[in-house]
Amino acid sequence: MAKGKTATVFFCQNCGYESSKWMGQCPGCREWNTLVEETISKSPYAGGAAAVGGAASSGRRGRAVPTVLSQVAVREEDKLSTGMGELDRVLGGGIVQGSLTLVGGDPGIGKSTLLLQVCRNLSGAGHKVLYISGEESLTQIKLRADRIGDFASVMLLLCETNLDAIGEVIRSEKPEAVVIDSIQTMYNENVSAAPGSVSQVRESTGILLQLAKGLGVSVLIVGHVTKEGTVAGPRVLEHMVDAVLYFEGDKHASYRVLRGVKNRFGSTNEIGVFEMREQGLAEVKNASEYMLNGRPENASGSVVACTMEGTRPLLVEVQALVCHSNFGIPRRQTIGTDFNRVNLLMAVLEKRSGVQLASCDAYVNITGGLKLSEPAIDLGIVIAVLSSFKNRVLSQKLVAFGEVGLSGEVRAVSMARQRVAEAEKLGFDTCVLPWVCAEDFRKNSHGHTIRIIGVKTVQDVMDSLF
Ligand code: TYD
Ligand code: MG
Repeated sequence: MAKGKTATVFFCQNCGYESSKWMGQCPGCREWNTLVEETISKSPYAGGAAAVGGAASSGRRGRAVPTVLSQVAVREEDKLSTGMGELDRVLGGGIVQGSLTLVGGDPGIGKSTLLLQVCRNLSGAGHKVLYISGEESLTQIKLRADRIGDFASVMLLLCETNLDAIGEVIRSEKPEAVVIDSIQTMYNENVSAAPGSVSQVRESTGILLQLAKGLGVSVLIVGHVTKEGTVAGPRVLEHMVDAVLYFEGDKHASYRVLRGVKNRFGSTNEIGVFEMREQGLAEVKNASEYMLNGRPENASGSVVACTMEGTRPLLVEVQALVCHSNFGIPRRQTIGTDFNRVNLLMAVLEKRSGVQLASCDAYVNITGGLKLSEPAIDLGIVIAVLSSFKNRVLSQKLVAFGEVGLSGEVRAVSMARQRVAEAEKLGFDTCVLPWVCAEDFRKNSHGHTIRIIGVKTVQDVMDSLF
């Protein structure tokens, strides 16, 4: 397998796009200057095949035998709980036996901390786990572990970057779960490229995939997201793994959001919220409350909107600052939401409710550092912009959600009842929502105390709030 023709190919360090010649811009992901030359040995590629035959024993070639679908047994208890509810939810209930999970994120965001805590919980529950680090020494890991807490039971550590050696240890120790920190430091002797290069990262993941599927070991891989393009990013291996989780957050703020972007065993778009403390990461169960911490009182241009993150409603504060522009072309800026969407909503307001926004600068911010793309926050943005423009302070206990269309109509959004329930739970007393949702809510809900204001158009919003 190692023997074969060698050739040089250009790989995009960001998305793994392959090209026979160098290009300034990657046609795959449109990033600039990410293509680098690498030598590859043309060997039959082992990575993808094992992913299909999940039951294959240790990846060796034997006679292929198909199975009758109805006879495939599914056991629920194959999911290992990580001991953290927030992480379990993103994973779809826990770590699936024999699965390959990628945890991506910027350096220093807390990936190693999270996975060390997972190891602690798993080993505490009597599971055999192996933590393999290619970045830190045993002492460094021990120092971090001391911050996190007591490691009561046996947990195996290994500082190694050679995948052959790692494979041998996994085969002899037979742990239930393995953490690889990080994939960019691992190398396979059969590939001549440097660790962190696209071909090396892919090949290493292929080997880990075979180990995971063959031995039924759950493997958690850490992948650094890098802007500079010196090492291959996690996107290169997204298609090879079963689940992809991204750890996001502002490095300067203490909370972190774990987002599922791919999951073969559960729903994506789920998020888990954590807080980085002195003793490691703590789960944040009431995320809405956390996101609304430190809201200004009696300030115009601030309103609470409700968005869905997977199956969970989340309340966030939308802030807008609208002021007169000193230049011919007004300045518009957004943080945490789509720039073009905000421009569009302001045009809708101008046309459909007659407010003169064309000569105004506008800044819109979703506080808490979240990036939201759900259309249901449209109504929140519209109300925040109007509130700032008219310099009118809205009630602290008002929450809004709904999609706004080009004719100024407020359109229905999904899961209205859950959103209203979340607002009610956190003590909000008024909810502005699409008229259709409001009617539906009135018919089917009993005993709510929150005041429901159904709106059909942005003009209705103006009339009922301003
Ligand atoms: P780390 O897990 O090393 O990040 P990554 O593996 O993603 O590169 O986390 C590093 C940061 O977390 C570092 O700046 C210190 C901080 N930290 C805490 O605030 N509290 C803790 O208990 C730990 C272990 C780390
Ligand atoms: Mg680390």
